[in-house]
Amino acid sequence: MSVIILAIESSCDDTSAAVIQDGVILSNCIANQEIHKLYGGVVPEAASRAHQINIVPVVDAAIQKAGIKKEELSAVAFTRGPGLIGSLLVGVSFAKSFAMSLDIPMIEVNHMQAHILAHYAEDPKPPLPFLCLTVSGGHTQIVKVTDHLEMELLGSTIDDAAGEAFDKTGKLLGLDYPAGPLIDKYAKLGKPVFEFTEPKVGELDFSFSGLKTAILYFLRRNIKENPNFIEENLNDICASVQARIVSILLKKFKVAAQKTGIQHLAIAGGVSANSALRSGLEEMGKEMGWETYIPRFEYCTDNAAMIAVTGYFKYLKKEFVGQDVIPVARWSI
Ligand code: KG4
Ligand code: ZN
Repeated sequence: MSVIILAIESSCDDTSAAVIQDGVILSNCIANQEIHKLYGGVVPEAASRAHQINIVPVVDAAIQKAGIKKEELSAVAFTRGPGLIGSLLVGVSFAKSFAMSLDIPMIEVNHMQAHILAHYAEDPKPPLPFLCLTVSGGHTQIVKVTDHLEMELLGSTIDDAAGEAFDKTGKLLGLDYPAGPLIDKYAKLGKPVFEFTEPKVGELDFSFSGLKTAILYFLRRNIKENPNFIEENLNDICASVQARIVSILLKKFKVAAQKTGIQHLAIAGGVSANSALRSGLEEMGKEMGWETYIPRFEYCTDNAAMIAVTGYFKYLKKEFVGQDVIPVARWSI
């Protein structure tokens, strides 16, 4: 008999639902929350309210698009963490009621594991073991994946995440939240003419808070001399900041590959949508003779398809949880 799973993702500011049948994604619906643009960042209270509004229509859409009846579902998978508690609570509570009403099992999913397993949503799938650079708004990690559900953290950020570095730079430049995609867009029109120093941290760890401060002082200094400095140099500033963030990420990733001897390299998470990171990884792969894996845009930023894939692997191992499960803001992979 077919295994059909409904997956729910509500860890931050995107409400998403997906349906997977025997490991094949049938639907992946996402409702973004525009409200956070007004505040220059995610407002937790507003995010959980928006999840409340979005969750039923998004789940309905995912079930309809998949062309299945909810009575056919084998299980419900949901993001248990890490993330914003108020946001997670909506998805977890919904999953509990849904599972109870259909009398089907529940599967808890770690959002960061799921970002990595998004690579199994379609071909080409990286062979095991592989290394994954997971870069999102809240995390920056180098992970060794030995089995679908067996992962080892080799390095991570000691302060800000790569996505935060993009978003905080955007705020300094007066760009809307999330600024990552905008910086990517403007960077294409500019040149990396401004230099920002590289942070000094452990071999496989990252630090981005110093970069943010360096950008702040750089802007202050230049605006003092030319009040229109940002407007006149926006594209070059974006190209320079992006080049620095990408070079930091790829340098560490290269060291991880050399240290572990693993030659299959993947990227995941929202920042893996960045065009310079995608092309930079590809170039590094060609130069070093390594295989690289870059997810389709839809599977980079938060989505429930990745929760569905992870849920499917866990279903096969019968890793279910009970109705007493609660969300967790922090949860290591
Ligand atoms: O994985 P994600 O959707 O949510 C979290 O789990 O955090 O990642 C969101 C992050 C934001 O910081 C956003 O600015 C960044 O991913 N991002 C990008 C791009 N698209 C999204 N950063 C750089 N370039 C992009 N094209
Ligand atoms: Zn994410």
